[in-house]
Amino acid sequence: LINYNINEIKEIMMDDLQLQQKLSATALNAALEAGKILKQKVNTALKIDYKGRVNLITEADRMSENSIIESIRRQFPEHQILAEESPLIETSSDYKWIIDPLDGTTNFVHGFAFFSVSIGLEYQKELLLGVVHAPLLGETFTAMKNQGAFLNGQPIRVSQVRKLADSLLATGFPYENNATFQRNFEHFRRIYPLTQGVRRVGSAAIDLCYTACGRFDGFWELDLNAWDVAAGALILQEAGGKTVNMDGSAFSIYARQILATNGLIEAELLPIFKE
Ligand code: IPD
Ligand code: CA
Ligand code: CA
Repeated sequence: LINYNINEIKEIMMDDLQLQQKLSATALNAALEAGKILKQKVNTALKIDYKGRVNLITEADRMSENSIIESIRRQFPEHQILAEESPLIETSSDYKWIIDPLDGTTNFVHGFAFFSVSIGLEYQKELLLGVVHAPLLGETFTAMKNQGAFLNGQPIRVSQVRKLADSLLATGFPYENNATFQRNFEHFRRIYPLTQGVRRVGSAAIDLCYTACGRFDGFWELDLNAWDVAAGALILQEAGGKTVNMDGSAFSIYARQILATNGLIEAELLPIFKE
C-alpha cells in the first residue's frame, strides 16, 4: 500500500468491501435457493440411486447442486468450483467454492429434518466464508473470515464447558463398514461414558454449526470430504472454536478428518484418539 495515496487506498478498500459483500450475498442466496428446492422435494417420492449400499444420491442432491453452481457462475464465472456431485471446475482463479448441495442425504430421504446445504469459499487456499443452511430447521449459519459467526443474523459463540464430564459431543460414521467405521466405534465406545452424551446427527455441517453455537461442545469424524467441513469449520473458528486433525496436527479441510471443539475440551480428547 506504500505506493498508493490515501484516495487510492480508500478506493481499494471500497472495492474490497464491495467484493466481500458480493461474495457473501452470492453464497447466501445460492444456499437459500437450494434450500427451497430441498424443502419442496423432502417427503415426496424421489428417484434414489446408490453410490454404495447405503450411500444414497437423489435427484434433490443434483437439483440443489445445479442451482448452486448456476448461482455462483452467474456472478463469478472465472472461480473454481469443487462440488460433491460434479467434476471439479479448475481455473487459474484464487477463489475456490466448496459445495455440499445436500449434507445428510440419508436423513433427507427419511424425512428427518437434520440436513443442510453447505457452501464454503477459499481464497488463496484459506477459508474466507461459509454458509450452512438447514431449511427444515429454519436455521442459517454464516461466517466471514475475521468477522465472526452468525445464526440467522445473530452472533454465536462456542460453549464454555471445560470438562468432558459436562459435555455433549457429536460424531459420525462413514457409509462403508470398513476399518475406519470400526475404529470410530472404538472411539465412540471409549468416549461416550466420559461425557453427558454423544449424538450421531447425520450431517457433519450441522454438527460443526451446533458446536459453533454451543449446543455441542465438540465433534469428531473420520473419512470426511472437504465439502462436508469447509463452511462449518470456518463458522466454528469464527465462533471462537478450534479445529485440528485428529492427531492434533494443523487442520486442513482436505485431511479427511476433524476434531472440532470449543477449544476447552480438546486436550482431554486428543490423547484418546492418539492411543
Ligand atoms: C454425510 C454426512 C454424515 C457423515 C457422512 C457424510 P452426505 O454427507 O455429513 O453426517 O457422517 O460421513 O458423508 O453424504 O449426506 O452428503
Ligand atoms: Ca456430506
Ligand atoms: Ca452430500
